[in-house]
Amino acid sequence: MAVLSSETFELRDSDHIVLVRQATRRFAVQLGFGIVDQTKIVTASSELARNTVEYGGGGTAVIETVESAGKKGVRVIFEDQGPGIPDVEQALTDGYTSGHGMGLGLGGAKRLCHEFEITTTLGLGTRIAIVRWK
Ligand SMILES: Nc1ncnc2c1ncn2[C@@H]1O[C@H](COP(=O)(O)OP(=O)(O)O)[C@@H](O)[C@H]1O
Ligand SMILES: [Mg+2]
Repeated sequence: MAVLSSETFELRDSDHIVLVRQATRRFAVQLGFGIVDQTKIVTASSELARNTVEYGGGGTAVIETVESAGKKGVRVIFEDQGPGIPDVEQALTDGYTSGHGMGLGLGGAKRLCHEFEITTTLGLGTRIAIVRWK
């Protein structure tokens, strides 16, 4: 996968979540995504940004325009150095929350994207990469 452009954002608080949300939309618009597809990647990105702040203790988001096999897409990569996710399958289950959320963020984000990849290590942190192709 080739990276055509990339921007990195800090994720420490809710203002940063808004910035990541807006920037994700900007990347999607720039690729010519329609309003429905924009909303899908923006919603996924904003849920994962919130998790990075709430559960990961803060971290970063890298938003990219990518290209593979002649297709272009938006990739967003979230990384934190938080506690990690002990049971990924459980965390992806709709309705599961270890906090006070609705437990729909992770599973919802996965359904809204074409690619969804989690790497997590207890005590070291979590990396989640999503892609929505044009
Ligand atoms: N970056 C993360 N670091 C550690 N745990 C996480 C992270 N993201 C998600 N989780 C865990 O996965 C659970 C499910 O997340 P989510 O589906 O977004 O629901 P909610 O945010 O409502 O709890 C969270 O309650 C939390 O336990
Ligand atoms: Mg969440």
